[in-house]
Amino acid sequence: MTSTQAKRQVVILTGASSGIGRATAHELARRGHTLVLAARREGTLASLARELDPSGSRVLAVPTDVTEGDSRRALIETAREHFGPVDVLVNNAGVTVERGWWWDDPDPLRVLRVNLESPIELTRLVLPEMRSRKSGHIVNIGSVAGRAATNGIYSASKFGLRGFSLALRRELLGTGVTVSLIAPGFVRSEMTRAARLPMPGPEVVARAVADVLGRPQREVTVPRVYRPLAFLDHALPGVGDWIVRRIIRRRYAHGER
Ligand SMILES: NC(=O)c1ccc[n+]([C@@H]2O[C@H](COP(=O)([O-])OP(=O)(O)OC[C@H]3O[C@@H](n4cnc5c(N)ncnc54)[C@H](OP(=O)(O)O)[C@@H]3O)[C@@H](O)[C@H]2O)c1
Repeated sequence: MTSTQAKRQVVILTGASSGIGRATAHELARRGHTLVLAARREGTLASLARELDPSGSRVLAVPTDVTEGDSRRALIETAREHFGPVDVLVNNAGVTVERGWWWDDPDPLRVLRVNLESPIELTRLVLPEMRSRKSGHIVNIGSVAGRAATNGIYSASKFGLRGFSLALRRELLGTGVTVSLIAPGFVRSEMTRAARLPMPGPEVVARAVADVLGRPQREVTVPRVYRPLAFLDHALPGVGDWIVRRIIRRRYAHGER
């Protein structure tokens, strides 16, 4: 077993119905993990589970709205009933304001509810058992937008998730429970379908998630090309201003701004 191959684990994966979550479900199933897939689209989730595990013994679909407390509790209880203790929670479900400015959106705070509040609440539900077993792993899907500020509400959610992940990791040092943050740059998914940029597929993020199950990491930025960009934005924020203005000017041409 190499350092990035993990023993087979029971993994709850939110946002499994498309994009990064779907690719991650494929990668984790390929590596032999037991999966509990969560998202709102029931039919899509059920057919993914059947595709990954026709026997139905190792992959379970649990329709879930991560913003609803009852739905979150049902997800965790169902996972435990079927597979016993949860080894890993992957907080991947996420949304953004896809069109226009966030302040024109009728409910921009939904981005905070899905991307920040839900991972915190799901973590609260699995943490007591993980701490008493002295074993467990929380994997949060952040974003490069959690290091380099771009969209106000989306960056607020991802900066928040990054702070939560890094702090929680420290709070749990020595307990046997670990926390990893994966920070993707642009990859192809439903979320980025309108972006006119060259992007790899979501599999690059899926592999990074699967790898941290074998070797937890404080923070991993993928694709690798975004590592110097995130650093550059911190060291020379004026360069970041220039890049964002160029992108924003292109996106919002024709006098929208
Ligand atoms: N694609 C990128 O370039 C990129 C870059 C950086 C970070 N990320 C992050 O990667 C994660 C996955 O995004 P993606 O790019 O794969 O986008 P995506 O294809 O739009 O997938 C988003 C997933 O989240 C689920 N979801 C949304 N709201 C939910 C809710 N209330 N309850 C349960 N599930 C919900 C969706 O499922 P349902 O609609 O079926 O509920 C879907 O499975 C997000 O956290 C995103 O912020 C993406």
